[in-house]
Amino acid sequence: MKVLVTGGAGYIGSHCVLALRDRGYEVLVLDNLVYGHRDFLTDVLRVNWVQGDVTDRVLLDEIFTNNQIGAVLHFAAYAYVGESVKLPGKYYRNNVMGSLTLLEAMVEHEIPYFIFSSTCATYGIPQAIPLTESHPQQPINPYGQSKLMVEQMLRDFDRAHNLRSVIFRYFNAAGADPLGRLGEDHDPETHLIPLVFYTALGKRPTIAILALTIPPPTAPASAITSM
Ligand SMILES: NC(=O)c1ccc[n+]([C@@H]2O[C@H](COP(=O)([O-])OP(=O)(O)OC[C@H]3O[C@@H](n4cnc5c(N)ncnc54)[C@H](O)[C@@H]3O)[C@@H](O)[C@H]2O)c1
Repeated sequence: MKVLVTGGAGYIGSHCVLALRDRGYEVLVLDNLVYGHRDFLTDVLRVNWVQGDVTDRVLLDEIFTNNQIGAVLHFAAYAYVGESVKLPGKYYRNNVMGSLTLLEAMVEHEIPYFIFSSTCATYGIPQAIPLTESHPQQPINPYGQSKLMVEQMLRDFDRAHNLRSVIFRYFNAAGADPLGRLGEDHDPETHLIPLVFYTALGKRPTIAILALTIPPPTAPASAITSM
């Protein structure tokens, strides 16, 4: 089966391309290279790829017409929480409109499977730890909201068009290809684990970790206030 990977030049997408290829899948990457790494595609993955945007419906039609795509793994998005607060339109346009354009093209071309990169940011402030999948989703920034909107669209597209989907709500993804061919390389970097390593290596002076006091799942309210 041929799989379309959007955002396949980025951190998680590129590692997934590697994993898919190791398992014998044929892969086509669509990435606009706003944040992705061209050399991941050309030098490491040596994969078929198209430089373009998921909001480009004409391009999507061309891709789906010319390739027998069986499933789409959708990683392409903007993911900077702070920027999303300052520029919400940029996030709704790319993350929501991009996903909607992709879903509509998939329906038209009868592509049945969609795997979506959502985020822990859809949960908002945790009401209890550990967070479970059934925790209420109340995002506190446009980034989280944009991903939650797509989650909601997926339920409707499943009902209306039988488009089957899986949603992953990642926290901070971490790690790299064990053979060292790929790794995490965001610019700017905002993820916890690389920032901790940069600090340990002396590339940053400090790392601040905000501690939240979160009530345990079963504690009565009176016990919480005395913690
Ligand atoms: N890295 C994490 O810890 C983490 C946590 C939660 C959720 N996520 C989600 O996982 C996905 C991948 O994250 P990542 O860390 O690999 O990000 P990344 O920035 O490394 O990769 C995203 C890729 O998508 C591309 N892209 C963005 N908008 C596009 C568009 N409109 N058309 C085509 N390509 C586009 C970028 O060029 C980039 O290559 C994102 O959707 C992100 O929201 C990541």
